[in-house]
Amino acid sequence: MRAVSFRLNGEPVRVTVDDERILLWVLRYDLGLTGTKFGCGASLCGACTVIVNNEAVRSCSTRIKDVARKRVLTIEGLSRRDFLVSVAGSGLLVLFRLDPLLAQEPAHLPTRQGYPTDFNAYLRIGQDGRTTCFAGKVELGQGAMTSLAQLVAEELDVSFDSIDMVLGDTDLCPWDMGTFGSLTIRQFGPVLRGAAAEARAVLLQLAAERLQLPLEQLAAKAGAISDARDRGRRVTYAQLVQGKRLKRHLEKVPVKPVSAFVVVGKPAARKDALTKVTGKAKYAGDIGLPGTLHGRIVRPPAHEATLKDVDTSAAEKITGASIVRDGDLVAVLHKHPDVAEQALALVKAEFDRPVPTVDEKTIFDHLLKAAPQGQVVGESGSLEEGERLAATLFDLTYLNGYVSHATMETHSAVAKIENGKATVWVSTQAPFMVKTQVAQALGFTLQNVRIVTPYVGGGFGGKTLARQAVEAARLAKIVGKPVQVVWDRTEEFFYDTFRPAAVVKIRSPLGRGARPRSTRTHSRPNRTSTSWPRRPASTHWSFA
Ligand code: FES
Repeated sequence: MRAVSFRLNGEPVRVTVDDERILLWVLRYDLGLTGTKFGCGASLCGACTVIVNNEAVRSCSTRIKDVARKRVLTIEGLSRRDFLVSVAGSGLLVLFRLDPLLAQEPAHLPTRQGYPTDFNAYLRIGQDGRTTCFAGKVELGQGAMTSLAQLVAEELDVSFDSIDMVLGDTDLCPWDMGTFGSLTIRQFGPVLRGAAAEARAVLLQLAAERLQLPLEQLAAKAGAISDARDRGRRVTYAQLVQGKRLKRHLEKVPVKPVSAFVVVGKPAARKDALTKVTGKAKYAGDIGLPGTLHGRIVRPPAHEATLKDVDTSAAEKITGASIVRDGDLVAVLHKHPDVAEQALALVKAEFDRPVPTVDEKTIFDHLLKAAPQGQVVGESGSLEEGERLAATLFDLTYLNGYVSHATMETHSAVAKIENGKATVWVSTQAPFMVKTQVAQALGFTLQNVRIVTPYVGGGFGGKTLARQAVEAARLAKIVGKPVQVVWDRTEEFFYDTFRPAAVVKIRSPLGRGARPRSTRTHSRPNRTSTSWPRRPASTHWSFA
């Protein structure tokens, strides 16, 4: 251990650490600056870039001793110097104020799997007039936090800036299947719009009673309802609600017609923009709980390999390292992630490795052989006639290999178990599915598992289930301390739910003018996307 001094974002800093430790981890966990991200750990992706003496360096491969007496600038320092000046004028301020909300009467969240019909599950109007929207969707960078807020602003007649979003927290938000398939606006949007429209209609009724005016004479705007003939006679939503749940409900309240939209479809400052560009946005790997241990897991060399023997004696000699062995889970834990990594490298594990029956070259033959009989999913006209009349016949085969989602943020989770309840911060697209996954792994009831989804750094369908959440939760249960598991890039490529490999055959006769006369398509994708194929599928459609 030795004291290392340097200037960090313009301020003098002195840390007493093993001077071989990696700058990235000292910045993130010793100094709490989580804006510098882990991406690959191999100097490849640039997520961990910082400026050292005016030069961009990869902090994942820089030792702390190498920045002694130098100037280090992280994104947090950039934000103070540059971004705040340019962005402050926009008036965008994102606040997450959960404590007062938690103190309120809880929403009546459904115990069954389905969207609740009580609009209070989605909306809370605070005494300060701000509206909080709760949704089981998550913000993956696709903008759900902003677009859902626009829907609420539109239907509730409140300003867009007065809406705070709480997404993907299974204790606070209504159930949702997950954020995938481009369904957020298409499927959940109408539900949220309906809830906001009903809440607005109830507020109008309450205002009519309070102001002693007919409903038709009232106008709602920017979180207040006023007499259309005398704007001075008004009552705000906050005055009507007084921080309580609205108990009144109305049937079949129509949503606004598209022609009346003033917020939806118009440009809006993204709710997550400022917090992301200033490095303040928290992802699962940024959740720092006191006493957290970082878990690194012994991985098999191939899918379906089984552990034969493991020697952890060298890793055990690392000061502060703990070893966990629980069935198939063998892990090294340490309070510093880079030291946990060093300890993991000392573990000697032997596996029984299955002999692979297919590889990236033979997979396509395998798919063709193993696919079941095709199903005709659409047909009209005559394929034979189309081919007979063709000027040109194309007979093509396309091979499509496995493709990883390769999200910027690798699968990450932090788990804490307290008073018999597990809370897990997870990078996932489906927090309610992960809740079930974690409950089953721990043997807990669903009520005793809470999944919190902070910002998610990309998903693309690859973060539906969350193996890393189960790993963190199992380890936290065993060691009795919070545990963080952040996959490195190798683990990410190994366990990703890949886009399936496929063989696509197209036979298409073209008539004069290159118009297709008929097309016969056979597609043999592997429906099982993790590792090698198990259940190939086959579809076939044609038209003429
Ligand atoms: S380059 Fe350092 S984490 Fe990718």
